[in-house]
Amino acid sequence: MNSESVDFLIIGSGVAGLRAAIELAPFGDVLVVTKEKPSESSTEYAQGGIAAVMSDEDRVGIHLEDTLKAGDGLCREDAVKTLVEEGPERIMELISWGAEFDREGLKLALTIEAAHSRRRILHAHGDSTGKELERVLLNKVRSLSSIKKYPFAFTMDLIIKDSECHGAYVLRNGEITALFSKATILATGGAGQIFSRTTNPLVATGDGMAIAFRSGAELEDMEFVQFHPTSLYYPAAPQFLLSESMRGEGAVLLNINRQRFMENYHPMAELAPRDVVSRAIISEMVDTKSNHVYLELRHLEKDFVKNRFPRIYATCLQYDIDISEDLIPVSPAAHYMMGGVKTNIDGETNIRGLYAAGEVACTGVHGANRLASNSLLEGLVFGARAGRAATRTSIIPEGQTVYDSETSSIKTLDEIKRTLRKLMWERVGIIRCAESLGEAKEKLLLWKEITRKNYLTRSDLELKNMITVAGIIVESALTRKGSVGAHYRSDYKERGEGWQQHIKWNKNKFRFEEEKFKAVSGHEC
Ligand code: SIN
Repeated sequence: MNSESVDFLIIGSGVAGLRAAIELAPFGDVLVVTKEKPSESSTEYAQGGIAAVMSDEDRVGIHLEDTLKAGDGLCREDAVKTLVEEGPERIMELISWGAEFDREGLKLALTIEAAHSRRRILHAHGDSTGKELERVLLNKVRSLSSIKKYPFAFTMDLIIKDSECHGAYVLRNGEITALFSKATILATGGAGQIFSRTTNPLVATGDGMAIAFRSGAELEDMEFVQFHPTSLYYPAAPQFLLSESMRGEGAVLLNINRQRFMENYHPMAELAPRDVVSRAIISEMVDTKSNHVYLELRHLEKDFVKNRFPRIYATCLQYDIDISEDLIPVSPAAHYMMGGVKTNIDGETNIRGLYAAGEVACTGVHGANRLASNSLLEGLVFGARAGRAATRTSIIPEGQTVYDSETSSIKTLDEIKRTLRKLMWERVGIIRCAESLGEAKEKLLLWKEITRKNYLTRSDLELKNMITVAGIIVESALTRKGSVGAHYRSDYKERGEGWQQHIKWNKNKFRFEEEKFKAVSGHEC
């Protein structure tokens, strides 16, 4: 096994990881490892925008209120306060580094999305906001000589000594390297790929959550998975997000009988919270026996649609859908994990030397449901804070370690992955109940052994991580006998007793064992 030492190790190269690296650059050598090329992260695909108070008509107090309301009573207020107060400064800093947000004249162009009570969403090149952030942050990183990148390096596990994190084992060019560091920051993003319908890129396999969990880190709020109401539903096309900002600019939803329906479900209609819109769509799909509904923009001016959503326009056109002229078939898809590795507002986990920021982390900023366009901001604000906190580490990495050399390989890997993703979508998706969750648990238990072995390929390790994270989501969803935010149980439609509590797991507490699940008086979901 090779070994290397760095001052600071960052795992993941989306907005949170890059922003943390920039913060750390003056304090020592920084290594950013990423399992793909550095630009391949959820950040790159974020369309709609980034929310922050940047106009005189808005106030941080209102952004705070909107975020708390969307979080449905489970946000940690200190985290929300930090996000909305520090957000504008992080945006100004990005602009000073060259970020080109769209403007109307000299002013920043601001749009609105679900559950925002003000226009506060900045966007870049219409619908390529994440790509612009990634471009600017990568350029900034390139200008800092203390930051080095290892692309195509898969983090297998953390190096833990006496309950402290001393770095990570990384698989690179087929070999294991022990990377020792004084501080390690996880910024690996989410886990959307465990669901068969997702807006997330292929890299989002929950790796950071799984490796942190194996190392003894605490995971929290894992039952809260946000489903985006509108991803393209077209068998010939890949799954593709149709940004909420389209509804912000006036797009409406129609069922397959061409009837508008959102007004029947919520006073804010198409701009109701995402969980409400997603469930309404499912309900319409069931009633009309269809697997999609439509998004309609034909009443908007053609040039406006083309210029405001150039990436979506061009992508859909490849599949013969002209979004300014045709109805767009859409259905919900897994989009964002509110839960993750539990941290405080400085990104500190319960393991000394281990920090987390961005979607992999759970600061409690999103509560039970994330306010649209708060996630890029979360990456910037908490990435910078985790970087700052990591400079204060006093860990002295040991410099020697062994990795369990007994390795296996998973037979029928593709089949297991397919079955897992379908199972999670169908039984642990937008509407859940004891019966569906119990069935999912039973199937997952068949693959429990996979989560206990070591592997030497990225695809084996990803599947191991996906099964681990899926198991924790299922157990959390079974434990929360009530419906809050994005977690909806058709057998417990009320909030339920003790709903304010956050559900937390660590590997010592987690018992993923067989048990019988009783449906509530014959309830089926
Ligand atoms: C979107 O553009 O709809 C996604 C934005 C977000 O999830 O915050």
